[in-house]
Amino acid sequence: MSIDLRIAGPELVLRRATASDARALFELGSDPETTRYMSWGPYTEIGQAERFIDGMDGQVERGEELGLLVTRGNEILGVTAYTEPRPRDRSVVIGTWLGKAHWGTGVNTESKALMAALAFRGMGVERLSVYAAVTNERSRGALSKVGFTEEGTLRRFHRHGDEWHDLVIGSILRSEYPSGPLAAIPAEISGAVPPNWIFA
Ligand SMILES: CC(C)(COP(=O)(O)OP(=O)(O)OC[C@H]1O[C@@H](n2cnc3c(N)ncnc32)[C@H](O)[C@@H]1OP(=O)(O)O)[C@@H](O)C(=O)NCCC(=O)NCCS
Repeated sequence: MSIDLRIAGPELVLRRATASDARALFELGSDPETTRYMSWGPYTEIGQAERFIDGMDGQVERGEELGLLVTRGNEILGVTAYTEPRPRDRSVVIGTWLGKAHWGTGVNTESKALMAALAFRGMGVERLSVYAAVTNERSRGALSKVGFTEEGTLRRFHRHGDEWHDLVIGSILRSEYPSGPLAAIPAEISGAVPPNWIFA
């Protein structure tokens, strides 16, 4: 399967990763503060970023994860991905990690807008979900600011190394999206959504 998908906004482009992006991803993902709440990392050698990129197409094909790089011009800022697709229920989860230099800059808001645009306009999603560790106040703040409603807590839902995290689950519904803050940000989708990621 050749995957060619790109979402462009006012400042950012979300695009598929290539092997030459490994160095930049390795540098961003080597920061323990950035990866603190992730299931992986921090990266300690470039091969880890290379293997992540190598594995991305297979994850799309198997319906596990559809990941995109967050970029501005030639600069790579982080990664955002759709996970846990449930085609029958037209539901998907999104998550994002950005290099620390890009926190608090508006990059997260625009990247969430681009991901929401593809989900609701290109994939037929009914419910767009997010998770954040209960203690990840920055992530929770970022999510509520862009219109996600917190719905409850999933106890010991996520393991990072030997640490277990309770997660807050939140969502934006198809009916809420048009009047929320994300729909107001322009998004141009090009390329094709892989057929197994189109739910309606
Ligand atoms: C999560 C992440 C993508 C959010 O992006 P961001 O650019 O940092 O988020 P924003 O700055 O847009 O929004 C954060 C909001 O929470 C607020 N906030 C920050 N720290 C906070 C805290 N301790 N308590 C409450 N609110 C807090 C900020 O003030 C901001 O709101 P404001 O813009 O109204 O001031 C980014 O921080 C990141 O990549 N973190 C590391 C990876 C990660 O944890 N990913 C999430 C996994 S669920």
